[in-house]
Amino acid sequence: MQRFLDLADFERAEVKDLLGLAARLQQHPDPHALAGKVLGLLFMNPSLRTLASFQSGMMRLGGSVFVVTPGQGTWQLETRNGAVMNGVAAEHIKEAIPVMASYCDALGVRMFAEGKNLHADVNETGFKMIADLCDKPLINLESAVNHPCQALADWYTMDELNVPERGKFVISWVNHPRALPLAVPSATVQMAAMRGMEVVVLRPEGYALPDAIMEKAHRAAKASGGNVTETTDRASALKGAQVVYAKEWGSPQHYGDAEAETRLREDLMDWCVKDSWFKHTDPECRLMHCLPVRRNVAVDDEVLDSSRSVVIHEAFNRMVVQMAVLYRMLRNA
Ligand code: CP
Repeated sequence: MQRFLDLADFERAEVKDLLGLAARLQQHPDPHALAGKVLGLLFMNPSLRTLASFQSGMMRLGGSVFVVTPGQGTWQLETRNGAVMNGVAAEHIKEAIPVMASYCDALGVRMFAEGKNLHADVNETGFKMIADLCDKPLINLESAVNHPCQALADWYTMDELNVPERGKFVISWVNHPRALPLAVPSATVQMAAMRGMEVVVLRPEGYALPDAIMEKAHRAAKASGGNVTETTDRASALKGAQVVYAKEWGSPQHYGDAEAETRLREDLMDWCVKDSWFKHTDPECRLMHCLPVRRNVAVDDEVLDSSRSVVIHEAFNRMVVQMAVLYRMLRNA
């Protein structure tokens, strides 16, 4: 495996095979598998889980890691093509990426959406530039509209919890003080569709995911035997759900317009997952969230602190599945 950028780049059977490798490595650790190998991590944006789980996973396989967080002990990086670099950024990614790649055997990069131009972000303009500059195996640590490592961990978590492959999976928009990127909702819808689930995107008016994201998920569902629908009707969406996946995202309708977004959110305070949301779900229904989560804004304490919540286990599984990605990438096995 040379690139891990999007679950959609893989066949469903290939994803399942990777999840099988993750389970084998979890049951039978291989602490010297990647001895002598070096992973480089570039974080253009903050992280807790992705940063720590990749470092821990690489070390548990016997490899080493270096981390670059631009502006925090290293140069600020410019990403714009044709920029006149007379501002704070001292170095362009056109130099930084090949230099970093020359020091490591695989490179992971986090670069969020710019959040100004929906078309550019949906087309992954920024991450495509990174990919073109990197001649080493490359891992997407979260790009404008993708987070494949999170999606892989979430699939693994559902398998572990025996959530049926044909189960009802509701991804619900939840509130946040500001517009967040589309990466996790896009990757999550794709993942659940590829898994073959009955996927419902529950969101208020103004928060429909971009057509390109939904069309891609529909194609995945068609191939897997699942289906994808969207609704604003919370009661019908939650009925019989086996998973409620809470996620915050910005309005594609008001992309890059913070004032319009703020106005739209004023009446949406009740989009915070409460215990009452589970009245008509499957009794065993789980609450998933990729973290970080704003307590009592996106999800109430009463849900996060209940046995429904699997958010800590989901986060742990980031490390488990990423070890499989690293193993496959760096051992070619
Ligand atoms: N879920 C996730 O990617 O967490 P971090 O942003 O903390 O890495």
